[in-house]
Amino acid sequence: MEQLVINGGKPLRGTVNVNGAKNAALAILPAVILSEGISTIDNLPGIEDIKNLVQIFENLGAQCTFSDKHTLTIDASTVNSRRASYGAVKRIRASYYLLGALLGRFNEAEVAMPGGCNFGQRPIDQHIKGFMALGAKVAINHGMVRLKAEKLVGTNIYLDVVSVGATINIMIAAARAEGTTIIENAAKEPHVVDTANFLNMMGANIKGAGTDLIRISGVNKLFGGSYTIIPDQIEAGTYMIIAAATKGTVRVQNVIPKHMDSLTAKLTEMKCIIKEGEDYIEVFGPERLMPTNVKTMVYPGFPTDLQPQIIALLACAQGTGIVTENVWENRFQYVNELKRLGCNITVEGRVAVVKGPATLSGAEVHAPDLRAGAALVVAGLAAKGTTTIMNAKQINRGYEDIEGKLSGLGADIRKINA
Ligand code: EPZ
Repeated sequence: MEQLVINGGKPLRGTVNVNGAKNAALAILPAVILSEGISTIDNLPGIEDIKNLVQIFENLGAQCTFSDKHTLTIDASTVNSRRASYGAVKRIRASYYLLGALLGRFNEAEVAMPGGCNFGQRPIDQHIKGFMALGAKVAINHGMVRLKAEKLVGTNIYLDVVSVGATINIMIAAARAEGTTIIENAAKEPHVVDTANFLNMMGANIKGAGTDLIRISGVNKLFGGSYTIIPDQIEAGTYMIIAAATKGTVRVQNVIPKHMDSLTAKLTEMKCIIKEGEDYIEVFGPERLMPTNVKTMVYPGFPTDLQPQIIALLACAQGTGIVTENVWENRFQYVNELKRLGCNITVEGRVAVVKGPATLSGAEVHAPDLRAGAALVVAGLAAKGTTTIMNAKQINRGYEDIEGKLSGLGADIRKINA
């Protein structure tokens, strides 16, 4: 089992480079299947989720070649299977994008129910509603989702909840449908926009991504091409929070500062000094962090994927902060692990009350999922003494070389196989 061993309590200093966005890459790679051409995707993060997805692609018949760690060329013309089994998809949630992509290309798809992080119910009813509205018949049995359509025809789809996955999946399936599809109450996250830009680069006709109404005019054919993925908002945010938690000074390089506005506002309220450049943000952690309240929301609100990390930071603040989780019904399961390090957190339903300042001290902890694992890294770096994070492979699912990047900032951190 992989473990991260951290000797914390040191201010981190220097520059850290952010990789391409995991959640954009996990949507854009399946979208490649829509074209019968060759596509080259650059700025892919070197993380486990991408490796798993590439494996699934090869099982479907695609030819995948990495020219370097971050650049993948995919020949989708050879995709000859419409089926992705449980064995292949169980590790990644985003395998649901294969449904939209295979349906859009072949009018048919058979994909096992998705896996991924476990924080309560993770329904895909809005994806299914969209596929059905486009003309697909849907059967869910034996753990598989089966979609089949005579043809896909554009229509109006109103999402009952603002869902990133459903918005992207419907956009992918509708890109080659006959006529126009309108998605109302669409998600506006940066990776929705990035996927739309990628589809348009392949010849699709999508307008309005980034607003709550997206209009997709179907086209007959999509072509291959080259595309560079946007920087990862959540990886960038995690390093900004780490700078604050360690009272350090860190320049987070290769970011789109606009994507970070909700976090920048909160860190400023907590008395961090923030400087923004065109493609970087510099965070100066204060000696005394002030508490604040945070409510997670869809973009441009505060991202749920930074909720565990900001809770770890609030534990170090001089007073009480309140965090309300509005996106996922059960995303506080990890707080018992933070408590092992000395954090004082009480959870009541969707609200966590974080009382600071806690005197954090290193301990053995277990990373239950990706972002909870990142929160343990934040707390471990702020804590005095040694923290050992078990099940660190969860963290590698979303953060490329986190131990190398943090070592580069002066952290005492290493990965071991125990
Ligand atoms: C994406 O998940 C991200 N994953 C998640 O990041 C992120 O937490 C989430 O968006 C919210 O920003 C990927 O992009 C691969 P949703 P997704 O559909 O698309 C409800 C990480 O750590 N809902 O926007 O699956 C759902 O239960 C991961 O990187 C329905 O009710 O999330 C939730 O409460 C974890 N029916 C809310 O909507 C549906 O059909 C938002 O979910 C779909 C969703």
